[in-house]
Amino acid sequence: MTYHSEPYDFTDKRAGYEQLAKQLRGLLAGETDPIANAANTAALLFDALPEVSWAGFYFLRANELIVGPFQGKPACVRIALGRGVCGTAAARRETIIVPDVNAFPGHIACDAASQSEIVVPLIAAGRLVGVLDLDSPRLARFDEADRRGLERLAELFVQASRLEELR
Ligand code: SME
Repeated sequence: MTYHSEPYDFTDKRAGYEQLAKQLRGLLAGETDPIANAANTAALLFDALPEVSWAGFYFLRANELIVGPFQGKPACVRIALGRGVCGTAAARRETIIVPDVNAFPGHIACDAASQSEIVVPLIAAGRLVGVLDLDSPRLARFDEADRRGLERLAELFVQASRLEELR
């Protein structure tokens, strides 16, 4: 497999995410290993999305979130359910967009440069398996179009991967 970084254009976010979904489908085709797929998904997101300083996964193991494959600066390893943006999105099982992380009570600062964040829970067969987390150095970087686009990409990752192998 040779990956070619495309000239991504997110001026129209819907079109940008459409292009990204197509590319992710190709990247994950024929592979079910969850770590391999998470690693390539994080790498694709980090390469493609503008103004993103961290992109990656936390997986639920023994009732806490543990960092998985990601791109960006080293991050906190364990996050309790209900703690931080990741733990809150996981506990609520819904995507959380944080326009200003400094205004989010309990935000866990891994990278001091991070200003805004989006966390998408990963649900497989009704079970919470982890979260997809993205950070940005720009305030209010993520909006509803990002939520829709990233939820779709997270779904593609979940469908392609044998997540039960992570337990
Ligand atoms: N800020 C997150 C912690 C994870 S890092 O951003 C990679 C949180 O509050 O859950």
